[in-house]
Amino acid sequence: MLADNRFIPHVEKYKTTKIEVPPRLTRRRHSTVGSDSPPSIHRCGHDRLRLRGTIEWMTVPGRVEAAEILLSLDPPAWFLRHARAVGEVAGWLAARIAATGTTVDRQLVEAAALLHDVDKALPADDPARALPHGDGSAAWLTRQGHPELARAVANHPVTRLIDGERYQRWAAFASREERIVAYADKRAGQRLAPMAARFASWRRRYPEGWSVEEARVVFERARRLEADVCRAAGVAPEDVRRLAWTGPALEAARAPRAGS
Ligand SMILES: [Fe+2]
Repeated sequence: MLADNRFIPHVEKYKTTKIEVPPRLTRRRHSTVGSDSPPSIHRCGHDRLRLRGTIEWMTVPGRVEAAEILLSLDPPAWFLRHARAVGEVAGWLAARIAATGTTVDRQLVEAAALLHDVDKALPADDPARALPHGDGSAAWLTRQGHPELARAVANHPVTRLIDGERYQRWAAFASREERIVAYADKRAGQRLAPMAARFASWRRRYPEGWSVEEARVVFERARRLEADVCRAAGVAPEDVRRLAWTGPALEAARAPRAGS
């Protein structure tokens, strides 16, 4: 990861086979443009296309794939409830923002929101566990082939709001998608709640955490984030709801496992 939190596109790690690319695939997202040499095209084992050498094509996991990634970690019930709540709040906000005509990557928002806390569910010996919360999720998802989710998951923790220089940089440059994920995590513990209730729960769980002044600064910054996201969605904070997409996605993700 670069100093400004951008990730260097990861190196192709899948077994590859040369194929011809249908024209429709030219609409898929890409990350960087480099040398002038003509790219060779490969298909990886996960049905992703990458143009080696000049452009790397990235595929944001869809709803079912995101659910499969989450289930692969065998998350406990409390973890799953929180991930689903954040995923559905974020999904609802992204849908509202899209409905206003503002460009937003709803698929990225939903996947990143569902997977934002994966570093808490990793085995103790996973190297990502050694990283700060959020950065660990980003590193693990990057290792799984999803660097496109890294920024949104890395910058969601509430502790980022007290992290002086990093916060200033994030507040200035964060994408719409990152802001939605960060805000949704502040609206949902086990269920959707006002932001003040979420902060009260953090204070109860971590009474030695912040000084009174730090808590005031963090909440003020969170309020700014709330105002920004809710303004984009055209709603008041008390009117935020959940988009019920995780149930069907988890059910579909579990289906092949049941028969295997
Ligand atoms: Fe969370």
